[in-house]
Amino acid sequence: MQTGGQSLSLFERLGGEAAIEAAVVGFYERVMADPSLAPFFDSLDMATQIKKQIAFMTMAFAGPNRYTGRDLRTAHARLVKNGLGDDHYDAIQVHLRDTLEELGIDAITVDEVARIVEGFRADVLGK
Ligand code: HEM
Repeated sequence: MQTGGQSLSLFERLGGEAAIEAAVVGFYERVMADPSLAPFFDSLDMATQIKKQIAFMTMAFAGPNRYTGRDLRTAHARLVKNGLGDDHYDAIQVHLRDTLEELGIDAITVDEVARIVEGFRADVLGK
């Protein structure tokens, strides 16, 4: 419901916490099924990663800020040393888009998410 004439945040338009959780879980299923991406997540506790990513995306999409993890540049520096690059980032974007479309998120909202996530590219890739 809209109140006080304020427009809904992207977080709210995506469907709030439950929807972000469903998106992140579905997203990592796709990522882990992609042989070009899965090796980066070897030996990572995915339940913890999913929690961190839910908190990060919630913050990034203007929901409540409960993110306590590292900044993206620091968090991915080891991966960049191990070859993380633009092709991987492009693949991540495709998986995120496919996940949101499968969840029935409308095209305008999906584009908005993609634009925001595109804004993290330089930090994640250490450029
Ligand atoms: C698309 C933009 C991305 C966002 C918003 C993002 C977000 C995050 C966040 C919030 C963390 C947790 C940081 C922490 O532990 O303090 C993280 C860690 C991690 N991310 Fe990403 N990430 C992105 C892209 C990628 C890509 C392209 C890959 C690899 C294919 C990747 C692989 C990882 C891995 C393996 C970790 C754990 C690092 C470690 O604990 O050493 N991320 N990411």
